[in-house]
Amino acid sequence: MIRLETERLILRRWEERDVAPFAAMNADARVMEYFPATPTFEETRAIFDRLSAGAIEHGFHFQPIEEKASGQFAGFVGIAPIPLNLPFAPAVEIGWRLPVAFWGKGYATEAATAWLDHAFQKLGLDEVVSFAVEANQPSRAVMSRIGMTQDIDGSFLHPSLPKDHPLALHVLYRIGRTAFTRA
Ligand SMILES: CC(C)(COP(=O)(O)OP(=O)(O)OC[C@H]1O[C@@H](n2cnc3c(N)ncnc32)[C@H](O)[C@@H]1OP(=O)(O)O)[C@@H](O)C(=O)NCCC(=O)NCCS
Repeated sequence: MIRLETERLILRRWEERDVAPFAAMNADARVMEYFPATPTFEETRAIFDRLSAGAIEHGFHFQPIEEKASGQFAGFVGIAPIPLNLPFAPAVEIGWRLPVAFWGKGYATEAATAWLDHAFQKLGLDEVVSFAVEANQPSRAVMSRIGMTQDIDGSFLHPSLPKDHPLALHVLYRIGRTAFTRA
């Protein structure tokens, strides 16, 4: 299972001590603004189990980031195979979710850059994608900062939501190995 270090962060495996701060993050409506629901504690526990199992199965997944200075759980960043019902499957996506206290520090960008480096240099992937609700500008800004570009023809209605749901329209970003290593 992957453990990476950056200047300010440790990207590590899920541990039992992450469940409480993970649940607190997921219960915050500001964090979940672009998601259709705010998970209950039990739902967060199920997500924790799924992400932990995914990391064992694939060797990587959305994994916790820990702030070196404080030792605190600072959210998750990682790469994962996308659900097969998405129109651009199969692919590996990069994603992030941080507690509000850790926004505005560059942590998502720092961790995501380390993950891309690992994905291309160590795992040998050719491409990594990311997607977000069209209105989720903070997430789209992370995608741009790590060198991803929008696939203008790739926008799609998320198949898990009704077509007329306000969060249905998603944008798609991509980055290939050559573009990442050139940057
Ligand atoms: C998406 C999300 C991770 C972005 O967080 P973020 O803090 O804006 O992004 P970063 O961690 O990359 O930080 C960048 C910000 O830190 C600032 N910053 C401060 N110190 C910095 C440093 N030392 N290095 C880099 N940036 C720094 C940058 O200027 C930038 O601020 P700005 O947006 O005002 O210009 C966050 O909004 C979030 O968790 N949202 C909820 C979950 C979600 O929507 N996930 C995505 C689903 S698709």
